[in-house]
Amino acid sequence: MNKKLFSLVTVSVSLLSMLLLSACNDVSTPLKPPTYKTTIKEDETRMSAFKAQFPLEYASYQKNNESEVMTDYKGSIAYHKNDNVNPLPEGFKKAQPYLKNLWLGYPFSFEYNEARGHTYAVEDFVNIDRINRYGDGKGQLPTTCWNCKTPKMMTWYKEFGDKLWSMDPNLFRTKDKIDAMDETINCANCHNPANMELRLYSEPLKDWLKRSGKDWATLSRNEKRSLMCAQCHSEYYFQHADNGPAAKPVFPWDDGFDPEDMYRYYSGHGKKDAAGKPGPFVDFVHAVSKAPIIKMQHPEYEMFQDSPHGAAGVSCADCHMQYQREDGKKVSSHWMTSPMKDKEMRACRQCHADKSADYLRERVLYDQKRSFDQLLKAEAASVKAHEAVRLAAAYNGERAPDYDALLAQAREMIRKGQLYWDYVSAENSVGFHNPVKALDTLMLSVESSNSAVELASAATNFAIAKDLVGDIEKIVPPILKHSRKLMQSPEHLLTHPWLQMLKPLPASDQVWDGQTRLSAAPAK
Ligand code: HEC
Ligand code: HEC
Ligand code: HEC
Ligand code: HEC
Repeated sequence: MNKKLFSLVTVSVSLLSMLLLSACNDVSTPLKPPTYKTTIKEDETRMSAFKAQFPLEYASYQKNNESEVMTDYKGSIAYHKNDNVNPLPEGFKKAQPYLKNLWLGYPFSFEYNEARGHTYAVEDFVNIDRINRYGDGKGQLPTTCWNCKTPKMMTWYKEFGDKLWSMDPNLFRTKDKIDAMDETINCANCHNPANMELRLYSEPLKDWLKRSGKDWATLSRNEKRSLMCAQCHSEYYFQHADNGPAAKPVFPWDDGFDPEDMYRYYSGHGKKDAAGKPGPFVDFVHAVSKAPIIKMQHPEYEMFQDSPHGAAGVSCADCHMQYQREDGKKVSSHWMTSPMKDKEMRACRQCHADKSADYLRERVLYDQKRSFDQLLKAEAASVKAHEAVRLAAAYNGERAPDYDALLAQAREMIRKGQLYWDYVSAENSVGFHNPVKALDTLMLSVESSNSAVELASAATNFAIAKDLVGDIEKIVPPILKHSRKLMQSPEHLLTHPWLQMLKPLPASDQVWDGQTRLSAAPAK
């Protein structure tokens, strides 16, 4: 840490924590952002419209197109996250081989890739196997999925209102609806085009600020610099129709940002019972254990809360949008990527000026290695828990008197264990954003999964216990290949005991290729 920051932090220790926050603001950012008056239309959604007036930010944003560089754990090659074989860049072996097993019965088991730059968001969206491209060509997911891919959401929301969320995403897929390169995530997602002030476009974030009594206009500059990212780099869920507009994205933060808070939150907020009380929210029922699962998605903003950097008032932009001098002007780099791609670790050394690049890199890797190793163990424990319930559900010998109750409790423990490891897996820093929270969450995950195994085993008077001893990769091999097309094949479903729990999809041809409809939509 440089001397200036150090003395500011030291002075602030004796003051209120609010002052500590502003001390860090003073160091990293001038008090007020620059102001502008542009000639760009207020409802502009094309990136190219910003080029002439903001050539420096525009040029650095184009660097998000870089998609060939990996770091030790992350980087920008869109490899399959479960795939240990290919097409990984040579030497990269940081895959999570059990992901397809763990999401069996949910579109995430078809394809799940490492993220790359913002400029690819639309292209990657229209090519992922999670959105259906077969049969009648309906997407089989809500339009909510478009929410974090384009500023066009503002246009569509104005047109359709809350009906938008539950519409078919494939209605917005063709080239006449969206320009994949010009209308991908861009300036309009974060800036008011008229004056370039930071502006929220995201409905779930605006809703949350309202629910929690916060006013955008009175937030600090650094809070805003993080909330810009929280618009998308957050966990969300598709609201159940019993609780408001169907499939509207909601941030589950009412009880707090930690995985325990979310687990509690999700025990309500689902389908309502006969008395009108919301039951548990469920993303999908696991094909093997029938456990009601929550799929976590990229909780970067949540993980970052209470971290050493988060608590000290550092913002996402400090590390992912470092300041640089260009044409004699101080501008924010708009290349929002891994700070580890830079050999000099310049983003970090804006504040840690007394540390070498190597030292800082090693600190990140130290946290990441430990988080990643424990993550793989937590995923394996979760697989064992699903398998235990599968065995117990099929067990026809003498069952414990409270067999049904024990199996229900076991499924609840699977749900909890899976929410916890997925919080760490879906979070994109491999533990660095909050090393202690990451390891704590993985411990809780293993504890819950182990408890699911015990409960399932007890339901069978411990008869299945002997089938669960030993190397989990031998008991339940990782499913490395699975897709929507393969799910149409009964032979494929015979290749693994877990795949046998799935019903084949009806055989049908592919009707979408990227943004192109290959055959006409069937007449209505
Ligand atoms: C994901 C959000 C995001 C996107 C997308 C984005 N910006 Fe920014 N931009 C920011 C943040 C955060 C700042 C820093 C604001 C601050 O420090 O108060 C910023 C700062 C700026 C500034 C102020 C000067 C500077 O460099 O700090 C300009 C001008 C700007 N952006 C232009 C653009 C243009 C043009 C685009 C599209 C090519 C764009 N931005 C895309 C978030 C974004
Ligand atoms: C409108 C939604 C949205 C906003 C706002 C947003 N992101 Fe993203 N971000 C995404 C999506 C979607 C991807 C993955 C794109 C892909 O893989 O095609 C992504 C990818 C990334 C990546 C990975 C890039 C790489 O090279 O691998 C980083 C880092 C990142 N975002 C940081 C940020 C930061 C920092 C902010 C705030 C300044 C921010 N994002 C704001 C949606 C968003
Ligand atoms: C103190 C610096 C720091 C802060 C603050 C920070 N990050 Fe990161 N972030 C990192 C590092 C280091 C990595 C790991 C990159 C790697 O392994 O290559 C990372 C990784 C990521 C990635 C994945 C990058 C990739 O290559 O796929 C995303 C997305 C991301 N951060 C978003 C955010 C968001 C959103 C915030 C604010 C809530 C934030 N970060 C705050 C340092 C930071
Ligand atoms: C805006 C200033 C700022 C930036 C940028 C920044 N840090 Fe920090 N860093 C801090 C502050 C403040 C602390 C809090 C603890 C303290 O007072 O020493 C801290 C603490 C740390 C710690 C000790 C706590 C922990 O998490 O283990 C490490 C290691 C660290 N930073 C690494 C990095 C790395 C690596 C980067 C770049 C990816 C980075 N920092 C970027 C300000 C910053």
